[in-house]
Amino acid sequence: MHAAGAVPLAAAGPPAPAARRKLRVETRRFSSSRASRGSVPPRLGRARRSAVPRRALSEKEAEEAGGASSEDAPDASASSGGGSCPLGFGKDGPIANAVDGARKAMYLSFMSSTSPLTMEEARASASAADPADVTVLDNRVFLKSLKRAIEDPVGMPAAILDWHGAVGKDTVGIENPLGPGCVSTIDPRVVEYVCKTNASNYRDRLLPDIFRLVLKDLGVTGSQGEYNRQHRKVCQKPFINASFLQTFSDVVERRVEHLCDSWEMAAEKAAATETENKAAASGSFVTDVDLHSQHLLLDIISPISFDYNFNLLDKSREVITGSETTFVENPMLEAYHRSAEIMGEVFITPLPLLELGAKLGIGRLRELTDAYDDLERMGDDIVKKRRAMHQATLDRGEEIEQICLLDTMLFLEDPETGERAYTDEELWGDMNDIMAAGHQTQAATMTMALLYISRNPDVKARIEAEVRALPDGRAPTFEDVSEGRLEYTQWVIKETLRLHPPIHMFPRLASESDVMPTGHRVEKGDLILLSTWAMGRNPNVWEAPETFDPERFSDARLHELARSQADPDADEDAIDRAVTMLKSGRDFIYTPFGAGPRSCIGGLFSLLTVTTIVASCVRRFDFEPDEKTLPRDAPIPLRYDVTMCYPNGINMKLTRRGAGGEEGKRKEASEEVAAGAR
Ligand code: HEM
Repeated sequence: MHAAGAVPLAAAGPPAPAARRKLRVETRRFSSSRASRGSVPPRLGRARRSAVPRRALSEKEAEEAGGASSEDAPDASASSGGGSCPLGFGKDGPIANAVDGARKAMYLSFMSSTSPLTMEEARASASAADPADVTVLDNRVFLKSLKRAIEDPVGMPAAILDWHGAVGKDTVGIENPLGPGCVSTIDPRVVEYVCKTNASNYRDRLLPDIFRLVLKDLGVTGSQGEYNRQHRKVCQKPFINASFLQTFSDVVERRVEHLCDSWEMAAEKAAATETENKAAASGSFVTDVDLHSQHLLLDIISPISFDYNFNLLDKSREVITGSETTFVENPMLEAYHRSAEIMGEVFITPLPLLELGAKLGIGRLRELTDAYDDLERMGDDIVKKRRAMHQATLDRGEEIEQICLLDTMLFLEDPETGERAYTDEELWGDMNDIMAAGHQTQAATMTMALLYISRNPDVKARIEAEVRALPDGRAPTFEDVSEGRLEYTQWVIKETLRLHPPIHMFPRLASESDVMPTGHRVEKGDLILLSTWAMGRNPNVWEAPETFDPERFSDARLHELARSQADPDADEDAIDRAVTMLKSGRDFIYTPFGAGPRSCIGGLFSLLTVTTIVASCVRRFDFEPDEKTLPRDAPIPLRYDVTMCYPNGINMKLTRRGAGGEEGKRKEASEEVAAGAR
């Protein structure tokens, strides 16, 4: 682990400086440039959330499971106007305590590891920087990197890591002959500067032009500025709200059991065939786990976003059990997949070319805009039907039970005009966004975690032991994750995200010119390249970064990490605080969910969900590599387009577990198969 002496970078060049330097404090004061936020958030009109939480997550649970940025803290007073808030956000409302826990975690999540980097410190560091140390790579490096980025399945982050390795610096400037200048950093302290200390100057994310053509600046991901701030706030609420999280846990538990039941049926079938062939009936079968991950996560994210069920798990069961031979895709999903696929193809094409292409019908652009129009039409229909359904409930004088994100947004009003806060088009923009942002990311993480589990018997054994120790041999829940009963499983998910973050970059645009704490000049419109993938491989931060080592998220190892990255005079309280931050996955060292005001709004939910899913799968099945198609030591066949994906699927060998608490499950499943066959 790096302390004062840095671990040398692989490529030639001077040794890298410590990733986290103590920045000299300057006496001159700088005023904060954080923009003030003027507009008033929308408030709830007439809907109520009447579902009673099964059990509220405590403060510790919310913290441990991961928080969100403080800019997104649910503003209880804004929604409630006191203790009688119909939503329950008021002081004495049923949700208040739970939200308090989450809010505390969010506040913590916005603090840096030990002591926050102030603007004064950053300015002092910038003016003290030796110009000879301010490395700027010339434009030939950039052009060469484009080739590397195209050839490497990871894309640009692979080139970025090369830049840092080649010059032994954690922050470098790059001349870009094709567009704005760039600064790339894998130094947590500089990431903190961009995402927190001077976040107001780097709030905007670089959005691919295709988003503007297709998403029309709607949705959380596709928007900037005040629109983004408002929609983030509203969309995030259910995903950090204890009562909703309990409801979502039920959805996750039911869906993953459904998938495991289908696998159980596949195992029964395999065993029957083996018996016919007089082979020992192992009930093992090989399947593309990633396909199932995608189905599962879409069947989880769509009901919790807008109470819609694609029934993908049912359909894949029909195929698994042989009652259907072909998989008929839902038209909405078909449009969604088509648009996602084409978007991946034109992700970096500039807007004028896109507009021309769409007009002239070149390439697949018209197909894309048509697919998106289809999606919008279907989405609009869903929104309208749901509004009418709830309106009828209200007209009967009854309360609406809010069970999904859409329910929380349908009746929001603009507090200044009393008008409906969001148009149906805006609402659909958000639903579509949550579905897109929350499905492939989690599915890819689930697949990757199971692949590592299949390749590492020790890791598998520890998860098995954790799951077996759950009370009464029951299936895992969010509560198990948040109460630490699946601690090791969660380390596995975190380590998976460190090595293979589904979104590997979170670049920012400079609103005004600036000088970074390292002395790098930034002009208005320049790009700051922040790559989670490259940061996760920074040898100045992570010991043996290429090794899959879940234990690095244990308390002891996190203390070591925090200590190695901290100011030398940081006290134990500061180190403890840093560890809490690292545990919640929201520090500037570990950034799978991005950082700062544009960070992911689904981090907490994702950690709960993927941990629960993986533990549930391991509880019922043994995962091993399929030596024929994807041997244990083979490179992982992944690619990044909009997110990480596996173009050829990920085959694994699944064997049902035979002992103990599994007997009942197996019996149930075989009875179901028998009933189906009758
Ligand atoms: C393993 C799962 C996930 C990973 C690794 C992930 C990662 C990320 C990352 C890296 C960003 C960009 C952050 C930045 O620029 O600082 C992001 C943004 C976003 N994520 Fe996630 N995400 C995941 C799941 C989810 C889920 C489940 C949801 C929905 C609840 C979600 C909703 C969003 C949204 C709406 C944004 C855009 C935020 C904005 O632009 O203001 N994500 N995510």
